[in-house]
Amino acid sequence: MVIRGGTVVNAAEISKCDVGVKGGRIVALGENLTAGAQEIDATGKYVMPGGIDSHCHIDQRSSGGGRNSETFESGTRSAACGGTTTIICFAAQEKGELLTPVVEEYHAKAKQSCIDYSFHLIISDPSDEVIHKEIPKLIKAGHRSLKLFMTYPRNRLNDAEILRVLEVAKLNQALVCVHAENHDAIMYMTEKLLAADKNSTKHHAWAKPPLVEREATHRMIMLAELLDVPIQIFHVSCEEAAEEIRRAQERGLKIFSETCPQYFVLTARDLDRDQREGAKFVCSPAPRTEGDQEAVWNHVRLGTIGNVTSDHAPYNIDELEGKFWAGDNAPFSQIANGVPGLETRMPITFSEGVSKGRIDLQTFVAQTSTNAARLFGLYPKKGTISVGADADICIWDAEKEVTITQDILHHDTDYTPYEGLQVQGWPAATITRGKLVWNDGVETCEPGWGKFLARDPYDYIKPRGVLPTPFDPVFMTTDDEV
Ligand code: URP
Ligand code: ZN
Ligand code: ZN
Repeated sequence: MVIRGGTVVNAAEISKCDVGVKGGRIVALGENLTAGAQEIDATGKYVMPGGIDSHCHIDQRSSGGGRNSETFESGTRSAACGGTTTIICFAAQEKGELLTPVVEEYHAKAKQSCIDYSFHLIISDPSDEVIHKEIPKLIKAGHRSLKLFMTYPRNRLNDAEILRVLEVAKLNQALVCVHAENHDAIMYMTEKLLAADKNSTKHHAWAKPPLVEREATHRMIMLAELLDVPIQIFHVSCEEAAEEIRRAQERGLKIFSETCPQYFVLTARDLDRDQREGAKFVCSPAPRTEGDQEAVWNHVRLGTIGNVTSDHAPYNIDELEGKFWAGDNAPFSQIANGVPGLETRMPITFSEGVSKGRIDLQTFVAQTSTNAARLFGLYPKKGTISVGADADICIWDAEKEVTITQDILHHDTDYTPYEGLQVQGWPAATITRGKLVWNDGVETCEPGWGKFLARDPYDYIKPRGVLPTPFDPVFMTTDDEV
């Protein structure tokens, strides 16, 4: 395949050249490449690394109740139509479960994936068996990131349990990703709100204000610093949390973070509708204010926030196990948390970011692809248009104007929270390991094409080698020179 006449945009450089693809990999970059068996005209378009969405929930039991609407087939199809060629989703353990059968279950489901995938392992029950036997084996098999929740009753870990997970991650070279919100504060607020009959969707945001995110983010950073373990803070939604991360980064700590399109375009006002409509916007952290949106963009520009993910967590409105798993009149606290967004992640980020002048093209590529590849040990196989990389490519039409509506999307969820949102910039074509799966509005994905990406140890997440005391609690050694 030869992609001809486009402008190649990498996080590090921009060049006008053709791209040659053979055997699923990029084999040539240059001017006037000789004719390929398949020719793609990219004149006037950007040729970028395929998107990497490193936070999406697919075919998962919910942390609150209910079940995701999406299968791996529908979810990855919709991702590909939105320019994404790699996902990192979850194998989600619940309390009382062993981890290995859960991971096997998710591997079996993911075989229907249309694009390449990897897993974060959600640790909800860090028992001795899980920590000492299962996790080391599973990390060695290529599941090189663990995820923990500081809230949600079925998943949350207390500080002692968090330390156990940080320790096993350090010992076995894995990255820990965190949903950071203060559980007890949220529970307290929720009980009080419900007792005062304040149970509609707008009160979801009242139950979990930015300070619960700030506190948990700060606490998590302190626990990570105690053991000297790099971490990734998921879905930063507000200035308060970003400020804590920035401060830690300025002190040299390896604290990474992401945000999501919902924190660029939704606000708490979206929750202030009748229950059925408001439920479409119930996600955690809750949508904030326009001021927070600009603060989040500012931290994207500064690099405090390193990547934009979808946190795709799809629940149908009209389904027994969906948003209203607890009944049509359920209070906000029992509505499934999450919004769908695999397909709209790149267009919204491009439109709000590049088209509106908040970020440049290369920052867009870094934030939607390259930085995630580096952070999760996939670079340079993924996240770059370079000779030798997988031919995961997104050809981008920066001029195309689209009004997002449910009927143009390919997901298997019965609504989009972005109904009516106008964007400028849309993927013209998506290529996954050399296979064209989205081209000018025509989708030709193949379930089963996607391969599991086992991840080897990588330097990006090496600890700093700085501890707060002479005693190393993980390796049980003491620095005698101090
Ligand atoms: O509301 C959200 N984000 N639901 C999905 C689970 C999580 O918290 O990431
Ligand atoms: Zn979360
Ligand atoms: Zn999530």
